[in-house]
Amino acid sequence: MDKTIAVIGAGLIGRAWSTVFARAGWQVRLTDNATAQLDAARDFIAASLAEQVTHGLANDPEAALARVAFVPELRTAVAGVDWVQENLPEVVELKQAVFAELDRHAPTSAVLASSTSAIPASRFTGALAGRARCIVAHPVNPPHLVPIVELCGAPWTAPETVARALAVYAEVGQVPIVVRKELDGFILNRLQGALLTEAMRLVGEGYVSPDDLDKTVRDGLGLRWAFMGPFATIELNAPGGVADYCARYSDFYRRLAANPAPASVWDEANAKRVGDALGTPHSQAQRDARTRWRDRRLMALVAHKRQQDQSE
Ligand SMILES: NC(=O)c1ccc[n+]([C@@H]2O[C@H](COP(=O)([O-])OP(=O)(O)OC[C@H]3O[C@@H](n4cnc5c(N)ncnc54)[C@H](O)[C@@H]3O)[C@@H](O)[C@H]2O)c1
Repeated sequence: MDKTIAVIGAGLIGRAWSTVFARAGWQVRLTDNATAQLDAARDFIAASLAEQVTHGLANDPEAALARVAFVPELRTAVAGVDWVQENLPEVVELKQAVFAELDRHAPTSAVLASSTSAIPASRFTGALAGRARCIVAHPVNPPHLVPIVELCGAPWTAPETVARALAVYAEVGQVPIVVRKELDGFILNRLQGALLTEAMRLVGEGYVSPDDLDKTVRDGLGLRWAFMGPFATIELNAPGGVADYCARYSDFYRRLAANPAPASVWDEANAKRVGDALGTPHSQAQRDARTRWRDRRLMALVAHKRQQDQSE
């Protein structure tokens, strides 16, 4: 029998998770307290699946869409499900309230996962009878095209919950990783934060233009990072591998680490300097067009990576 997921919240992330699970053959119940969001989610899922077909990333979009039920009532959405993925706004009190409701109404066998970007599960699951089945499963926007999922349990999350999460997200085509101990920003946003904080310093202090900094990532670091991580990268950047790399370059990195970009690069004055350097902000219409363009480029890149992985 098909497995069923309740997706709580039909915003950017909830509608994308619905696409992921429906595409993989799951029955999906998507719920939101704003009817307009459910309508917008239906349009988004239909359009995205149709476009994914052209890149070979989905097949039979009508059947996938038909597997998604749009359910206004949270209790109805979670009745009898195997999995719950919560995607409400990033407000701890809201997560606490909704997880209490999920724990009461979802079957005790269901895992309760949160998409939270930055709130550790211990801050909103501690008081629950079913806290051992709660876990953070943090995606990257948009999860139907960017497959990483960071799994991070609270100290009371059962190892079995983590094991089930690893299996389920892999089964639906994502790439789950385990964050072994709770920490602010999990892994991905800590890495992104290190890069962005330095970028804010370099542009804010006038070392480089935003456009040239973007090129440095897009046509430099990021080109390799699309298929190999930083450790795999440095392994090839010294004849003797990682140990040799550290021996050759650790003095340089130690000097950099001794003079980190200060927290003040995120203050209003520097944010304004960076904003001025970036120039006129995009209009909403331009941002919408760029989002569609980004998703098309991502689809082509994901399709390319899959093809390369298969031919290796
Ligand atoms: N946007 C991102 O880049 C991103 C990436 C990874 C994780 N996340 C996380 O995912 C979660 C959702 O983010 P988003 O960007 O989809 O937000 P969003 O604002 O696009 O969507 C939130 C949805 O929740 C609905 N909602 C609010 N209160 C509700 C309630 N009480 N009951 C039912 N529905 C309710 C809203 O109507 C809205 O549709 C957040 O925890 C966020 O940190 C976001």
